[in-house]
Amino acid sequence: MPRGRRRPPGLEKEGGTEGGSGAVLSSSFLLTRQRVCPPSCHGGLGTEVCSGSVLASYLRDKATEGPCNSPKPGMLDFVKKAKWDAWNSLGSLSQDNARQEYTKLVSSLISAESAGRKKDTSPGESGHGGYETLIVTTDNNITKIMFNRPEKKNAINHKMYREIINALQEAAKDDSTIAVFTGNGDYYTSGNDLNNFSNVQPSEMKKMAKDAAELLKEFVGSFIDFPKPLIAVVNGPAVGISVTLLGLFDVVYASDRATFHTPFSQLGQSPEGCSSYLFPKIMGSAKANEILLFNKKLTASEACALGLVNEVFPDSTFQKEVWARLKAYASLPKNSLAVSKQLLRNIEKEKLHAVNSQECEVLTERWLSDECLNALVTFFQRKSKL
Ligand code: COA
Repeated sequence: MPRGRRRPPGLEKEGGTEGGSGAVLSSSFLLTRQRVCPPSCHGGLGTEVCSGSVLASYLRDKATEGPCNSPKPGMLDFVKKAKWDAWNSLGSLSQDNARQEYTKLVSSLISAESAGRKKDTSPGESGHGGYETLIVTTDNNITKIMFNRPEKKNAINHKMYREIINALQEAAKDDSTIAVFTGNGDYYTSGNDLNNFSNVQPSEMKKMAKDAAELLKEFVGSFIDFPKPLIAVVNGPAVGISVTLLGLFDVVYASDRATFHTPFSQLGQSPEGCSSYLFPKIMGSAKANEILLFNKKLTASEACALGLVNEVFPDSTFQKEVWARLKAYASLPKNSLAVSKQLLRNIEKEKLHAVNSQECEVLTERWLSDECLNALVTFFQRKSKL
């Protein structure tokens, strides 16, 4: 290939003609770059801005190269597919236009990045730095851990799993009396980010499943071991692991907008978060079976009637009422609360770790199954909704 006519990384040595449509700056392309970009190359601005700089050279190359002439990669080759979509959607964009698009992209990402970082902190709150997918603050003896990928319905990617483990370790040691989880935007969280399974070569599937299970085991383990009262403020729909984990929280408050859905069999997967043990214990096996086996979605008031949620509030007054109550809880004697929580938890701690290990073992096998793979292909192909 002549100098100056490089193809984007990952599409080398391929030729073809298939057409398609899409936004000039494909979000799936950005998402893909976030996954493949090493953490060291974000220039302090976060992965999205970093992905913009990758896109700049891509757009420049693209403008030299001309319209997409590479064959469409297979559906499960997520990285190449995303790049192909981005290239294809550029059509015959000129180099000047490509540069203009890049400038617009970087400006918009920088403003979004700074808006996202500032969101929801108020005077008196002290922010804990270093998080990309969470907003962590401490105020009035409460450490608040907020899922912060609202544009992805707060889906939990690998980075967020690790950051939550770190945030819990920090909160265990800080001066706060209680820790609270909530979501930024309209969702509490949509659960495991299904992109966690993409971009994996067939030869690496086993390793991916093993690594993911280890991460999940450590993640759930950090909820089992958390030493202070842990409270969920469920501001909107909760899916998958964000629902199963609720059994490990000490108190759960929900907005009447919240729903609770664990579509495991629909996705060819199986329950985690100790729910295979705690859900039947909390609500009885008949009700737990409908939820964990047959994907039954609960409203907030149904979840409350089953004992998964303590109390439901009208969405219009949810934040005000819940935080006033949590402020009062957090003014109670800190050590008394911690030792009492540990008395309650220690009775079952060993059992919970054993359940967690077993659930992760079963999931390792599930993630390698055709049933799971087919469900993921359906999600990505049809963008099917739950
Ligand atoms: N994994 C990966 N991506 C997710 C996601 C998840 N769990 N939840 C949301 N997203 C992404 C969507 O793909 C979409 O991305 P895009 O903007 O690049 O297209 C974006 O977040 C917004 O979601 P969208 O689907 O457009 O919003 P919606 O209100 O129409 O639907 C859901 C929301 C949660 C019902 C839908 O996104 C969904 O079904 N997600 C999968 C949930 C799931 O199966 N979780 C795992 C359970 S074990």
